[in-house]
Amino acid sequence: MINRGGSTMSTPKPKPKRQMHLGLFLFSTGYHPAGWRLPEARADGAFDPAFLHRVAKKLEDAKFDFFFLGDALASSADMQYQFPSQMVRLEPFTMIANVAAVTEKIGLIVTANTTYAEPYHVARMTASLDHLSGGRVAWNVVTGADARAALNFSREKHWDNEKRYDYADEFVDVVKRLWDTWEDEAFVRDKETGVFVDGSKVHAIHHKGDHFAVAGPLNVARPPQGQIPLLSAGTSERSQELGARFSNAIFTGQILLEPAKRFYAGIKSKLAKYGRKPEELFILPGLVPLVGATEEEARAKYRRLSELLVTDFNLGPLSERIGIDLTGLPLDGPLPDLSLSSKPGDEARQLVALAQRASGREDITVRELFHYFAATARGHLLIVGDPEQIADQMEQWFVEEAADGFNICPPYMPGGLDLFADLVVPVLQRRGLFRTEYEGATFRDHFGLTRPDNAFTKKEALQGR
Ligand SMILES: Cc1cc2nc3c(=O)[nH]c(=O)nc-3n(C[C@H](O)[C@H](O)[C@H](O)COP(=O)(O)O)c2cc1C
Repeated sequence: MINRGGSTMSTPKPKPKRQMHLGLFLFSTGYHPAGWRLPEARADGAFDPAFLHRVAKKLEDAKFDFFFLGDALASSADMQYQFPSQMVRLEPFTMIANVAAVTEKIGLIVTANTTYAEPYHVARMTASLDHLSGGRVAWNVVTGADARAALNFSREKHWDNEKRYDYADEFVDVVKRLWDTWEDEAFVRDKETGVFVDGSKVHAIHHKGDHFAVAGPLNVARPPQGQIPLLSAGTSERSQELGARFSNAIFTGQILLEPAKRFYAGIKSKLAKYGRKPEELFILPGLVPLVGATEEEARAKYRRLSELLVTDFNLGPLSERIGIDLTGLPLDGPLPDLSLSSKPGDEARQLVALAQRASGREDITVRELFHYFAATARGHLLIVGDPEQIADQMEQWFVEEAADGFNICPPYMPGGLDLFADLVVPVLQRRGLFRTEYEGATFRDHFGLTRPDNAFTKKEALQGR
């Protein structure tokens, strides 16, 4: 339990033990491209409120920190073999409003793209959701991973990285100021006098920047969390800076431990220049746990999923990844000599080892290597094993500071989530790594983040009002 200060006892409380954070990254047909083809999987849950409620309640029962919805602003039928659940899905704000109504504790993360939106809209929608959910919302700030979005928003081209992040920096700043435009004490609602609000506690922002001119105030009262927590997930330098300046959590795709540790340390080292502390920002890599009650059960499911992939076995991208040309090699033949890799150090060997570990054998074929990387095409680590084995790896990443927790991507739904929640979460709890009860009922509570003072109130206090 986090001590939020104010204690008058003379003996200081022991420093709270660092706890792991867990969220669900929703892929309604499962993270594995063939996940929906398993007989026990739901293939049509994306638009079924009952399915989404069941998932949310499962997360809450397992004491997860959050339910995360990604988003993109373009689609096409050819995404079906690789990214079926990203091809068509519910709009996140609408869906979260619905899920909020049937849950009480789970944090709810919506994605909003700054490249194709207005700050006033996003401030208004996020603040509204925070009220509807009792302070459980967080905003995943993206600038758009899918360049085709431009064609859906009356533009010819997706902006380049620099312009997108220039825009995003100013966008986020405006949203944050809009959230503060109504001080918490602004609402007098005095039936005697007829005064509803104290106008001196309502503020315009008069923003005029390079990209936006926004007067304010917002037409929604300050969100219950004061400032809604922010998340980001970019890989570029600009995105990492945005994350270090504003975010409370960073999502990332990492599949090797050492690079993950470097990423973790790199982001945390950027915080000081923005006056922030390492414990204000959580690094959450994705994790695809293929859980079985036994190791053999997990491996059998992994083999089954591999066989169900619909693929043309294009070995080009995988060749680039491991630094060896695999094209032309027989699919059912052995792997080539890995020492021929153009990749630095033993990176190729480490990548191949992931596929060997998933298969449970050293002598994997080119086809089996391909299967592993086809299953992790979105860049998150797939691990196959029994509950203890999965927990061991999570613990190692957590203890060695490669992660503060994980964005769990079940390979198929809902069974992949159920097995993780029913079998792996109790192991993490027994090891004292993960909560057995919620500490509070807001997103901030789950991460031990205090509710910030209103910037306007603080400024006036400093000026001795
Ligand atoms: C776990 C994770 C989730 C992401 N979710 C989204 C998303 O929902 N929508 C989106 O447009 N981009 C998403 N991205 C992409 C990033 O926001 C970012 O655009 C991408 O990693 C490229 O980095 P850059 O923007 O720094 O160039 C996600 C990335 C990761 C690692």
